[in-house]
Amino acid sequence: MPVITLLPEHKQLELPAESPLIDLEFEYYGEQHLSFGCRSGVCGVCLVKVHHGASLLGPVAENERDFVQRMGFESGPYRLACQCRLNGDVTLEVATRDAMPHAAAPSPEPDRAPAL
Ligand code: FES
Repeated sequence: MPVITLLPEHKQLELPAESPLIDLEFEYYGEQHLSFGCRSGVCGVCLVKVHHGASLLGPVAENERDFVQRMGFESGPYRLACQCRLNGDVTLEVATRDAMPHAAAPSPEPDRAPAL
């Protein structure tokens, strides 16, 4: 069975070949390794960075590519896990909100805000 290695812990999980990555939820019930929201490629919660094996996750559909780019990421290394099918060993990392290039900078604290 193909192995999914999750960074940074190097935790290894297995799913049958051709499985959608979303099956992690069912195969490892009770252990949340990847977050899923809409499960249809429109919320971005399941964004992952693929370190190895990007070509083994199925083709990137135009809708997925456009969505990932609108989120501010490069399509290819970044995928929506809910849109991927596992065809071999891959290494992934959850793309946290802190890593999002378009994430707003924190607002200054009220007592430190510049005087107008
Ligand atoms: S779960 Fe919403 S985009 Fe993947």
